[in-house]
Amino acid sequence: MIKAVRGTRDLLPPDTELWNFVDHKVREVFARYNYHEIRTPLFESTELFARGVGEETDIVSKEMFTWEDKARAASEKSQSLTLRPENTAGVVRSYIEHELGRSGLLQKLYYIGPQFRRERPQKGRYRQFYQIGAEVLGPPTAGSELPIRDAEILDMLTALLDAVGLQGWTLYLNSVGCLNCRPAYNQALREALAGVKDQLCADCQRRAETNPLRVLDCKIPADQPIIEKLPKIADYLDDDCRNHFAQVRAILDTLEVPYQINERMVRGLDYYTRTTFEFTHGELGAQSAVLGGGRYDGLSEQLGGPKAPGIGFAIGEDRLVLALQAQLAQALAPLKAFVIPLGAGMNRHALKLTRELRASGITADVGDESFRMKKSFETAEKLGAKFVVIVGENEVQASAFAVKNLKSGEQTTVPRAELTRFLED
Ligand code: HAM
Repeated sequence: MIKAVRGTRDLLPPDTELWNFVDHKVREVFARYNYHEIRTPLFESTELFARGVGEETDIVSKEMFTWEDKARAASEKSQSLTLRPENTAGVVRSYIEHELGRSGLLQKLYYIGPQFRRERPQKGRYRQFYQIGAEVLGPPTAGSELPIRDAEILDMLTALLDAVGLQGWTLYLNSVGCLNCRPAYNQALREALAGVKDQLCADCQRRAETNPLRVLDCKIPADQPIIEKLPKIADYLDDDCRNHFAQVRAILDTLEVPYQINERMVRGLDYYTRTTFEFTHGELGAQSAVLGGGRYDGLSEQLGGPKAPGIGFAIGEDRLVLALQAQLAQALAPLKAFVIPLGAGMNRHALKLTRELRASGITADVGDESFRMKKSFETAEKLGAKFVVIVGENEVQASAFAVKNLKSGEQTTVPRAELTRFLED
């Protein structure tokens, strides 16, 4: 049997409904923020990614699908081509090629489509995966460098996640400085690494020489205590970068966008300057980043174009859909506890206990003191509750409740303080 290639997968109904829902919702939000769609080719010349993303990154050094494309006619040359591992380099190439900066306005572009990286497949990590991304870039006279652009894009991200209904995300924010202040930080890192390099993994030993910033990306547990003690980038930002970051944060505070500073987040691509960010989600396990992005003020020039500072992000759509599915499953989670008020005056005690259970994450429902015991149990069974919790006069006084497992029939008295843990097991 011929199967889908490792790291690729078929998206089938009914899952495709959710994918289409997400696409539809994000297009609406992009339109409201005055973004327009760009579609760039699925493959580009290898040099674009080598120069744009960076030779020393994991993406370029080990994850790209690259092939030598043979000439088919005397007029053609053979060339090295690569399936796009990300879309920012392609968008900036297109911006340069079509002189999109000529209007003097900001270009606000979005894309939805597949990207390719030869990573080790696991939950939330595929070799063909989908990104929903956006880039805003333009000549400095259009205000492309200003902190309001950073804040606006983060504000749009909260609107995008809201529109698809994703809850429970965390935004991590950092500034990685610029071409002016990064060399001093790199130097400080190199010096600090010189003393401890031998204790680090082989990859880090190499990066310590070639691109020390990449050491901060290392995920090897044994390396972490050493990396934690390395110099922090925040201490090396020049005045302009520090000021830029402070303004971004001030606007976010006014917009009440919640974030946490993570000084180790340098991101896995070399083009970043100043603001970098990631949104994580607890349901995703090891691959917790649902999206990532940041500013890339020098990328256009690095690719031979005009000065065109910019900022953007890409949402991993596979991961967004996984998180939404987990949320949906949780919303449909079977009832954990049915609380039974036993006798007159017990409703208020029962409802208080139910509220406590719900507040600590337990799916719970509550009966009524006018129900007979038999009716209460029948209701609990019909609702598919795993446990019933009985709240009577004695229980309230003892602050311990009779809990019955409806499947096994086992009954136990559980102190109020231990109830949540007992029901969760
Ligand atoms: P990135 O962090 O490499 O950034 O990827 C962005 C998101 O794509 C990740 O947070 C993750 O959700 C998803 N992703 C990456 N690799 C995989 C994979 N193998 N399988 C599934 N999902 C994956 C970029 O790509 C930048 N171009 C983002 C950007 C735009 N920065 C500025 N503008």
